[in-house]
Amino acid sequence: MSFSLQALAKIVQDARIGTPAYVYDLDAIVAGARRLQAAFDDAPHLVAYAVKANSAGPIVKALVAEGCGADVVSGAELLLARRAGVAPMHIVYSGVAKTDAELDLAVGAGIGAIQVESVEEIPRIAARAKNAGKRARVSLRINPGVDAEALDTHSYIATGHDDAKFGVPVSSVPDALALLESEAAHLKLVGVGAHVGSQFTTTDAYVASARVVFDFAKRLSGLEFVDTGGGFGIDYGGGCAVSPADFIRAARALQKEMGLDGLALYCEPGRSLVGAHGVLVARVVQRKESLKSNVVRRWTMIDAGMNDLMRPALYQARHRIVPLVDPGGDRVDARVVGPVCESSDDFGIHPLPAAPIEHVAILDAGAYGYSMASRYNGRPLPAEVFLRDGAVVHVHPRKPVEDWIDDRFA
Ligand code: LLP
Repeated sequence: MSFSLQALAKIVQDARIGTPAYVYDLDAIVAGARRLQAAFDDAPHLVAYAVKANSAGPIVKALVAEGCGADVVSGAELLLARRAGVAPMHIVYSGVAKTDAELDLAVGAGIGAIQVESVEEIPRIAARAKNAGKRARVSLRINPGVDAEALDTHSYIATGHDDAKFGVPVSSVPDALALLESEAAHLKLVGVGAHVGSQFTTTDAYVASARVVFDFAKRLSGLEFVDTGGGFGIDYGGGCAVSPADFIRAARALQKEMGLDGLALYCEPGRSLVGAHGVLVARVVQRKESLKSNVVRRWTMIDAGMNDLMRPALYQARHRIVPLVDPGGDRVDARVVGPVCESSDDFGIHPLPAAPIEHVAILDAGAYGYSMASRYNGRPLPAEVFLRDGAVVHVHPRKPVEDWIDDRFA
């Protein structure tokens, strides 16, 4: 972790910030992006940052400055990427149910590739391109049908298996290719790719999926790139022996072995670029103890809830929790919970100081934290703070409660 916890304690004392607040280390994000870019050894490539992981402007802009493009999954994310300065040709757009309006936006912007996720989507994209008088660049997102068991991640974030809604199943690829051929006046097939899931802590499933993608790529002509997706895991405390660069080195080795070095290699990392470089800081509101059959139960109640960080409630994800200022002394196991009226508003049991503490940091919250936050229970979205050299360079303050009330009566 790149944060000084003591410094965080000062930051959240600032009246403009308060708690709960996400704090991000832009320098660490940039350093991670550089390590990943270096793994390509100057071979043609694109690191298309999966904006869904964290769409904060200062973060997307910092990644664009490092040469990253964007993987977007909605018209809104496409517009956000453009505003952050991503060149249209460096945008790839995935999504199983893109609306006509979103396709019009993508076709009009002339993005790098609209990722085809089903055979049925092909005539729809062709119709929008025809209507605009353009030839849309598309890539085929294949669902390689990697066995769900082999995708050693939570079932909610495994996407490359037969029951998933994502991508064109291997058995339908010939139909998709035939259709693309017949619509060649309006569609240009420039790439093939896959994204089989998230939070992989070995490269096995990634490489298995890349092999399927590369097998198809070998049989096609006119391609510009192969896209092996995102999914690089991070260490949430349980360990992660592989780095993002390891995934890329493994994919590149296979690409070379299969004679495809002529094609650019695209990847779509989200979590691995930002996850470890953001924390959610919360204030301890109070504690609670109960005694039953000689067993003491302890809760530490904080002012951040499942609406601010949904991952524990949604995927049983465990994020380490530490005090900002450690008073030392004994540790006791306490269940850390938020204020939301749901039993799943629960961050798990953590060893915390027995002495009172004012603030905690929930670690590794930079990815899929703020971007999945909601205003459930009338709670404002948390503040966001961006650091460079340990100093605050940008703040997104919490919106006043009145905004939520106004919205409900608008
Ligand atoms: N490309 C596509 C097409 C995707 O669907 C995703 C993530 C990514 C790239 C980026 O994957 P990453 O490198 O971040 O693993 N909310 C969940 C994760 C959902 C991932 C959805 N798709 C979580 O908090 O764990």
